Amino acid sequence: MRRVISVTFPTMDTKNKYFLRALKGESLIRPPFWLMRQAGRYLPEYRELRQKSKNFLDFCYSPDLAVEATLQPLRRYDFDAAILFSDILVIPDALGQKVEFREGEGPVLEPVRSIDDVDKLSLDGLHDHLAPVYQTVSRLSSEIPQQTALIGFAGAPWTVATYMVEGKGSKDYARARTWAYADPEGFGKLIDLLVEATTAYLIKQIENGAEVIQLFDTWAGVLSENQFQRWVIQPTVEIVKRLNKACPGVPILGFPRGAGILYQDFVKQTGVDGVSLDNSVPVSWAAEHLQPLCTVQGNLDNMALIAGGEAMENEIRAILEGFAGGPHIFNLGHGILPETPPEHVERLAALIQGWES
Ligand code: CP3
Repeated sequence: MRRVISVTFPTMDTKNKYFLRALKGESLIRPPFWLMRQAGRYLPEYRELRQKSKNFLDFCYSPDLAVEATLQPLRRYDFDAAILFSDILVIPDALGQKVEFREGEGPVLEPVRSIDDVDKLSLDGLHDHLAPVYQTVSRLSSEIPQQTALIGFAGAPWTVATYMVEGKGSKDYARARTWAYADPEGFGKLIDLLVEATTAYLIKQIENGAEVIQLFDTWAGVLSENQFQRWVIQPTVEIVKRLNKACPGVPILGFPRGAGILYQDFVKQTGVDGVSLDNSVPVSWAAEHLQPLCTVQGNLDNMALIAGGEAMENEIRAILEGFAGGPHIFNLGHGILPETPPEHVERLAALIQGWES
């Protein structure tokens, strides 16, 4: 394992964290690694902690619980990064939309489907409402191991808007997509509000100690080329531009999941420092077309991690080899699933830590 730990110059630590080096474009002997949704239901200690608050949003807004949930996976595995424990739907909640998480059903929101509905939302209480999240970030920044980077995050406007408009998870996001075509001005108002809220939220996370930002655009892949340009790329360009101005030097990872060959336009136009790849992106294609432009992150199939064994190990090795020629952060192609055996994560960690390219 290659880690740079400076004891005498604490300010140097930040610069030398393995994870941040990869995001600055260094190609390292083994990639840094973390897993999306590394805190969560596959861990028995998380399921136990989760009992302490019936309501998931309350859980996210309790710094004691959110700090503990973030730290749990770090005690088991030597991840190079910790991700703030929260959810992308705290933003609609903070804007005044009714948001609820129901057991076995997922998120349920009072839908926003017109300009009038958008006008009822407000940025006024944003920071007061999200103050517990900022407190969580601040505590984590002093409680995580010195060599671990702290990732702050938000949902990207398109993905957050899909939940706000549908009022729940969906397979095709039909209402959001139809509204976006039929009334781009009205839908654009919602997206603009989300750009404002998301930028302000992320700046506060950075001020409180987040060292990297990841923008989750989980449903980017359902859009046509034109719509992808308008609702994924354009808002991301705006957020990246504003963050770079307010917080220069803080790297940003984008995750336009399912974007296919549009990943290339996304990277070129947004100027993100790194891009997270879903498992449908061929490693050889990404190594040729994306890795010369920015750091790539990914992209083990989360089902391979459930399956484990030789099949998983072969997939891991192919990714490590395929991305060995440039800057890479090892991760999954999407979040870790509750059915994942923790021993498989242990095996994955051992393989990556023993890897030398
Ligand atoms: O990665 C981490 O460890 C940090 C925590 C994190 C959560 N959600 C915790 C969570 C992060 C980064 C998210 C992001 C998120 N939330 C996304 C984008 C990434 C992705 O996975 O696509 C999305 C789309 C959501 C919205 C969301 N939150 C849904 C649809 C659900 C219900 C489905 C599910 O998996 O349960 C959630 C709930 C949620 N967010 C849980 C956790 C640990 C499970 C709730 C529980 O523990 O009771």
